Amino acid sequence: MRSASSVSIPTWTTRAAQSSDLLTPKIDVRHVSRAFHGQRGSVQALRDVSLQIMPGEFVSLLGPSGCGKTTLLRLMDGLLDPDEGDVLIDGVPTGGPGPHAGFVFQSFRLLPWRTVIDNVEFPLQLQSLNKPTRQQRAVHYLHLVGLEGFEHNYPHELSGGMQQRVGLARALALEPQILLMDEPFGALDAQTREFMQMELSRIWDHLGIAVVFVTHSLDEALYLGDRVVLMSPRPGRVQEVLSVHLPRPRWEYDYRATPEFIDRRAHLWDRIRDMVADQPEFRLAHAE
Ligand SMILES: Nc1ncnc2c1ncn2[C@@H]1O[C@H](COP(=O)(O)OP(=O)(O)O)[C@@H](O)[C@H]1O
Ligand SMILES: [Mg+2]
Repeated sequence: MRSASSVSIPTWTTRAAQSSDLLTPKIDVRHVSRAFHGQRGSVQALRDVSLQIMPGEFVSLLGPSGCGKTTLLRLMDGLLDPDEGDVLIDGVPTGGPGPHAGFVFQSFRLLPWRTVIDNVEFPLQLQSLNKPTRQQRAVHYLHLVGLEGFEHNYPHELSGGMQQRVGLARALALEPQILLMDEPFGALDAQTREFMQMELSRIWDHLGIAVVFVTHSLDEALYLGDRVVLMSPRPGRVQEVLSVHLPRPRWEYDYRATPEFIDRRAHLWDRIRDMVADQPEFRLAHAE
């Protein structure tokens, strides 16, 4: 990893430690470290991670496999506790998992024996909401993600993109304060993925909710994010935070052709090239 002093930092690049704002961050990750202890020893997943996400901000999270991206989302969700440091939502410790966070997974995780609407209602049932409220919410968010008319279908009757829309509606129906998305479009084909990026952008614009979006795609990170957070290999740390500042809505112009996009993409690729080359799957591809 290069030290901060050895690289020139473009004007549109900021460091997490330099970010300051008078508003209370929606999510405030303060000097968080987390290890996992198993039979084959311990893994330090994150070390001294600090990151602030402001209300209504869309932050993309990039980094090599195993650098602790999922761990960081689970800490924000309250599913995990940090060994050191704090995770605050609106200035208050998360206090365990709850409806403050909606989670969207790469693998959709729908219940195959439940209809679309029942899948969306399921977490609301766990929140002990009454049936009319559950139904009303489920219908509202299914319509928002464009699934009107599919409420009574089963997951296997839907395409991958539609299944992930159900996953998104299920998370949004909790009316969470933050939306945590863990490589949500990673299992979709290229065209569906692009369409879902546009849809997510539209929905985010409508709801104004803070989103943390994990992806391996530089284009996706830059298309969606207000900022892109780049993490270093394990133990994961915030290596760099890049402000995107490309005009929105980005689907209304050919954003990939803009000089700003090309600059930022080249900058990110320059930073991650060495990390990617270190990953086992890449080494195998060049082994012959
Ligand atoms: N429940 C767990 N038990 C043991 N090790 C874990 C657990 N969760 C994650 N890890 C390890 O922590 C590191 C970071 O994992 P993860 O957060 O899933 O990374 P990423 O999402 O960036 O691929 C990895 O080495 C992973 O094997
Ligand atoms: Mg992960």
